[in-house]
Amino acid sequence: MNQIKRKVVELHEYAVPQDPRRVKLNQNESPFDIPAALKEEVFARLRQVGWNRYPSGQAHALAERIAGYTGFPVAGVLAGNGSNEMIQTLIYSTCDSGDRILVVEPGFSVYRRVASVMNIDVVTVPLKEDFGFDTDAIIDQGKGAKLIILATPNNPTGTVLRVDDIADIANQINGLVAIDEAYYEFCRETAQGFIERFENLIVIRTFSKSLRLAGIRLGYVLGREDVVRELAKARLPFSLSIFQQTAGEVLLENPEFLEAGVREILRERDRVFEGLAKIRDISPVPSLANFLLFQCRCITGRDLYQKLYQAGVVLRRFDHPRLESSLRVTIGTAQENDIFLEKLREAMEE
Ligand SMILES: Cc1ncc(COP(=O)(O)O)c(C=O)c1O
Repeated sequence: MNQIKRKVVELHEYAVPQDPRRVKLNQNESPFDIPAALKEEVFARLRQVGWNRYPSGQAHALAERIAGYTGFPVAGVLAGNGSNEMIQTLIYSTCDSGDRILVVEPGFSVYRRVASVMNIDVVTVPLKEDFGFDTDAIIDQGKGAKLIILATPNNPTGTVLRVDDIADIANQINGLVAIDEAYYEFCRETAQGFIERFENLIVIRTFSKSLRLAGIRLGYVLGREDVVRELAKARLPFSLSIFQQTAGEVLLENPEFLEAGVREILRERDRVFEGLAKIRDISPVPSLANFLLFQCRCITGRDLYQKLYQAGVVLRRFDHPRLESSLRVTIGTAQENDIFLEKLREAMEE
């Protein structure tokens, strides 16, 4: 296929099983939908606006609500079509072909995917033995990078980069330092407070996890006004539909119910961690996100994944060499977690 770039042809399809008949614990979504009354409110508002007109390009009303939710000035908020779009926009607006970005591994695969299609070099800093961040190596190797993207808590390990270390990195590096806080509400640590101090620091967040809107596709960036203004110019115009904007506005006008869901996930995370730790040959990694990575000693991740899949439970497995004997489980409802633990025990006893 001569017309398509080699870098694209070489990519694996980004395909994740989405079979609703199974206990689906593979995409770090919320197990809880939003209340029906809020969906009705979204529909009611959508009935009143013309679908023949383009949406607000700046998504100003939504940005106002995000500013209220985060306590960050609205001029420093940029909302987008999932944080994936924000990640793409960041790479697109900081790097030319041949430039370098730095990521950690194992880490979120989308950073590398986007960079490789754009012919951007990706430098990877391995996480330490316990999956902690190697801040010295990040600073050392990040010096020539145009962009450094670090997820904290990190996906798929759930480990965190402490805010003091983030400040050290932003202080010692010239490139843009993007902190991906997709799982912020489960850990409550944020680099947002440093944005004023370090002009090269930005934060990326999503509505897909604790805010329960993975299907709607909404994410946002918090950054200095001048940085955000440039990012806004680089992305496609009108990437957020009226449907997305309205759903985000309605949710953030009614956020009271969200906290109980987060508390429930945190309780369940502790319970699943303990359940995993009691199973012979399984070692969970402590996590501050809504998922747990666990290592299995006597079976490959691929084989255990298959066994659980046959038993009706879908987890996430990885091709990364350090994760060949690991799987990641998203924390679901108490009932889903019980089924997962029971099926895992059975699979390990076979
Ligand atoms: C670290 C991290 N960043 C970004 C995303 C993508 O989020 P969104 O649904 O907003 O594109 C994910 C989703 O799994 C993630 O784990």
